[in-house]
Amino acid sequence: MKTVQVSGQLWRHIISHCGSPYRFSFPAAVSLLYAGRCMKNIDFITQLHGKTSRDYVERVIRGDKAHCAEVAKQFGRDYWDGDRKYGYGGYSYDGRWAPVARDMIDHYGLTNESVVLDVGCGKAHLLHEMKVILPGLGISGLDVSEYAIANAKEEVREFLDHGKAQQLPYPDNSFDLLISITTLHNLPIDELEKAIKEIERVKKANGNSYIVVESYRNEQEKDNMLNWQLTCESFFTPQEWEWVLHRFEYTGDYSFIFFE
Ligand SMILES: C[S@@+](CC[C@H](N)C(=O)[O-])C[C@H]1O[C@@H](n2cnc3c(N)ncnc32)[C@H](O)[C@@H]1O
Repeated sequence: MKTVQVSGQLWRHIISHCGSPYRFSFPAAVSLLYAGRCMKNIDFITQLHGKTSRDYVERVIRGDKAHCAEVAKQFGRDYWDGDRKYGYGGYSYDGRWAPVARDMIDHYGLTNESVVLDVGCGKAHLLHEMKVILPGLGISGLDVSEYAIANAKEEVREFLDHGKAQQLPYPDNSFDLLISITTLHNLPIDELEKAIKEIERVKKANGNSYIVVESYRNEQEKDNMLNWQLTCESFFTPQEWEWVLHRFEYTGDYSFIFFE
């Protein structure tokens, strides 16, 4: 094995730019730094994820989970507003995305001149909250679910497109910020690569992106996640996600949700 000598100054530089050094192999962290871009783990989402109650075991012992997963993967009415066994069990507006919108606007320095895309926007509650704070903000949302778009927040529905993350219908260098929340783990790995490349393509050269995916840190969380998930195709630990995202040349920010 080759050993790399690292000065304390270089480590401090990596930590200040990339967060904890153990999130990356040292060569990966250095190559990202030298490329002038660095993936960062930033958490805007756990505040919401932790609010939902989930009975992991009940979902499995019912005995019809495979059928429920097939229904859920259509991302139709059953997934959004049908029985809890098919997905959300009713997804209605309650303002919970407002603090997330505020945090993202502040963190990424968005203004009324900025342009944002949400890939897998669902009913577009986050985009709506951003637009409430910044009425001049340019927004686009894209989702594979026609039902979600048809039932999205009315105020922003006109800004939503039906389509796939793997083939974004937008020109290169279009957006200051791309968001994709709990969507990309629903793609098998070859499709995931296409989606990451698309995010990089439509992001402005000086733009940002932020993705959230499901993950697990230990056997208990793996068990909970496998029991709970209906639509997931890419199952990785945080370290594996970082490796995959780096291999796909993702340069933006990310975080994970865990099933504790
Ligand atoms: C867990 S929901 C999250 C929705 C929304 N981001 C939110 O947090 O409320 C996953 C979303 O991914 C969308 N989706 C799944 N596969 C997709 C794909 N290939 N392209 C675009 N959207 C996709 C689903 O329709 C759904 O809206």
